[in-house]
Amino acid sequence: MRDSVLSNKEEYLNALFSNEKESETKKLSRQYSEEVGRARISVSPPESALISLLVKMHGCKKFVEIGTLTGLSAQYIFESLPEGAELWTLEKEPAHGDKAAQVFAKIDQSKKKIHLVMGDAREELEKLSAQGPFDGVFIDGNKAAYMDYLVWAEKNLRKGGLILADNIFLSGSVWNDPSEQAQRFSDKQVRILREFNERLADSELYQSAIAPTQEGLFIAIKK
Ligand SMILES: C[S@@+](CC[C@H](N)C(=O)[O-])C[C@H]1O[C@@H](n2cnc3c(N)ncnc32)[C@H](O)[C@@H]1O
Repeated sequence: MRDSVLSNKEEYLNALFSNEKESETKKLSRQYSEEVGRARISVSPPESALISLLVKMHGCKKFVEIGTLTGLSAQYIFESLPEGAELWTLEKEPAHGDKAAQVFAKIDQSKKKIHLVMGDAREELEKLSAQGPFDGVFIDGNKAAYMDYLVWAEKNLRKGGLILADNIFLSGSVWNDPSEQAQRFSDKQVRILREFNERLADSELYQSAIAPTQEGLFIAIKK
């Protein structure tokens, strides 16, 4: 890698945790996310490595993911769960869910299970509460609903449960970055993400930290 042409930290990290090392089913999820026109919104290789590691370190057995897309991050979470574990992953868009279902059908689920839950996460989470309490949640769905997801997580995670949340910088809009990327988020989305971040940074409620990945990953444990 030393001689290859790498000019910044992101390129270096992406090369180090390269897509090329991913399993066939993960490659399929990436291919499907391109086919549904959402190639750039799946977790990056370095982010997925971090999520996978945290889920394993936390010993999660019952885990919820909000925002399946084509099932890439779900696979990283799933592989870190122990035998007997369950993963519920929620997706609203049928086109995304259909692709994820095709990928999940290729994954060995004899020792642990993935449940793909189709529908609006806010409604489906309420129904899912009956299966709780959960050990962890990965929030990666509709940005304007992040506070609703967090309110649900506070009620439905066990004490000590893990919360991971992606895209918490909203491409810099939470600190008024003047870039075009940051400007595409609505005032409502920015207000909600700021409120969300402030709540997760509240040390009375959580022990937390932010991994400053490209999009920002909140890591929190419920007190
Ligand atoms: C950033 S993508 C998820 C990427 C995925 N976690 C990964 O890294 O492979 C966000 C997903 O959330 C879904 N979504 C958006 N609003 C939703 C809602 N209200 N309920 C459930 N899913 C939703 C979108 O359709 C999209 O597939």
